[in-house]
Amino acid sequence: MPTRTLTGITPSGTLHVGNFFGAMRPAIAAQDLGECFYFIADYHSMTSVTDPAVRRANTLGIALDWLACGLDPAKSVFWRQSDVPEVCELTWLLGSLTPMGLLERAHSYKDKTAKGIAPNFGLFAYPVLMAADILLYDTTVVPVGKDQKQHLEMTRDMAIKFNQTYGETFVVPEPSIADDVAVIPGLDGQKMSKSYGNVLEIFGDEKVLRKKVMSIVMDSRTREEPKPDADQFAAMQLLKLLAPAAVYADILGQLQAGGYGYGDLKKALFEHYWEFFREARERRAELAANLDHVAAVLRDGAERARVVATQVMARARQACGLR
Ligand code: TRP
Repeated sequence: MPTRTLTGITPSGTLHVGNFFGAMRPAIAAQDLGECFYFIADYHSMTSVTDPAVRRANTLGIALDWLACGLDPAKSVFWRQSDVPEVCELTWLLGSLTPMGLLERAHSYKDKTAKGIAPNFGLFAYPVLMAADILLYDTTVVPVGKDQKQHLEMTRDMAIKFNQTYGETFVVPEPSIADDVAVIPGLDGQKMSKSYGNVLEIFGDEKVLRKKVMSIVMDSRTREEPKPDADQFAAMQLLKLLAPAAVYADILGQLQAGGYGYGDLKKALFEHYWEFFREARERRAELAANLDHVAAVLRDGAERARVVATQVMARARQACGLR
């Protein structure tokens, strides 16, 4: 069976440089290696967002971000999850075979309830919806970060259980765990994460973002002092990702030798960061001025996704004696 890579993108606000290097860049590169199915997981946002305008805006925002950064609808199938509502039907079929104990052990569920979030059915059933996302499209590979690894194991359990109960129906997907993805540091040196408030957005207002970069806290060493540990600075690790290798090496050398200031470093970081996303920013502005085109891309993606979903769902219904 040819590989089919699938991933869901939760529409939960503004994307940052950590998202770009951690998830987007590998997903975009995968488009040249095999078949890719990428969707905007708007059903998954039901447990956290209850304002319809916000959900719509977030969904559109994700579509613009991903298309601007290189998701190519000529290569990949890109759609909005709720345009193929069969996934909810499959959630029911899978959920009816899923032991409570399995769902009770889900880290994400335990973490959320531990934080005091009142659990509801959607939160509890989240791994079943995610399994349905994957199994509905005969997915062979799911690229997952550490946080999603358990969900993929649960998906495999559900597929195997269904196949044992009703006969071979679902492809059992494999995880692809990228272990070489370095942790992208945020502005304070901790992992870049929305929950730490240390992110650098991919798209945003130039002045605001420049200010953010210029306010990175460094140490109190003077410009003249040599800084042999300069490669450890969060600002340098970001520069390494965002600037040409020669520029990075040059600045590193100057910092290590002494005589290069932190203000210079931050200015350089901002300039290279701004340049790095220039093309994507321009493409995003074009797309935002052409929303009919974006809607057509998602509609076309949903049609292509539905071709597969219809077949798989027919197979699943048949297997368990539904219509
Ligand atoms: N749960 C994933 C996340 O929070 C998003 C997601 C939904 C997903 N359905 C999926 C990822 C299916 C991979 C496959 O990031």
